[in-house]
Amino acid sequence: MRKPATTAFALHPLIAERWSPRAFAETPLADAELGALLEAARWAPSAFNEQPWRLIVTRRGQGVAWQRLFDTLSEGNRVWCARVPVLILSVAMLHRRRDGLPNRTAQHDLGLATAQLMLQARALDLATHAMAGFDRDRARAAFAVPEDCEPVAVIAVGRQDRPESLPEPVRARELAPRERLGLDAIAFAGRWGEPLRLAAAPERRGAG
Ligand SMILES: Cc1cc2nc3c(=O)[nH]c(=O)nc-3n(C[C@H](O)[C@H](O)[C@H](O)COP(=O)(O)O)c2cc1C
Repeated sequence: MRKPATTAFALHPLIAERWSPRAFAETPLADAELGALLEAARWAPSAFNEQPWRLIVTRRGQGVAWQRLFDTLSEGNRVWCARVPVLILSVAMLHRRRDGLPNRTAQHDLGLATAQLMLQARALDLATHAMAGFDRDRARAAFAVPEDCEPVAVIAVGRQDRPESLPEPVRARELAPRERLGLDAIAFAGRWGEPLRLAAAPERRGAG
């Protein structure tokens, strides 16, 4: 199932077609697929090139790590994550390697790395779904995350399945339309709240 973004201006298909499904097939990821996702995260930009992200990768059916991470998920997330082949714990490093000072963009930069991972996944026809609904303290303890690092999200990665594979009411959420604020609500001109006026989108030429 596809849920392309509705946009006023043309988007690259990788961005338009990325969304967060809950129906995942059990099929494992190949090492080459997983490696490409991690490379995409690795090459994200970051302040002072600090690269303040760490990713703890767990694979279903390989050792106990996947189950340990799964067990940290909220009940609502566990309902649809049981078949997800890869769960990744994303961690922000809160202090800079260069001088030990607080890194005020750590979560921002982790978000950039995650976005790159998600788009690379889309390019490989894989699905991703980030989750903040998990027990951070439990994840920290389970994976020996140091004190000055923060578990931020769990990212589900796998192959999309049909919505019919989900129980209700999760299935209904899978079928619900994607929603966003308008451009006028997120982009301002000159000062806070002042609408940014853009000319209507030029007619698209050719296939691009
Ligand atoms: C940091 C973060 C945390 C999220 N936490 C959850 C979560 O715990 N459970 C869930 O079902 N979806 C979660 N989501 C998915 C969002 O609900 C989803 O990205 C948003 O509704 C937009 O939908 P789309 O990704 O399909 O465009 C999370 C997304 C992000 C980026």
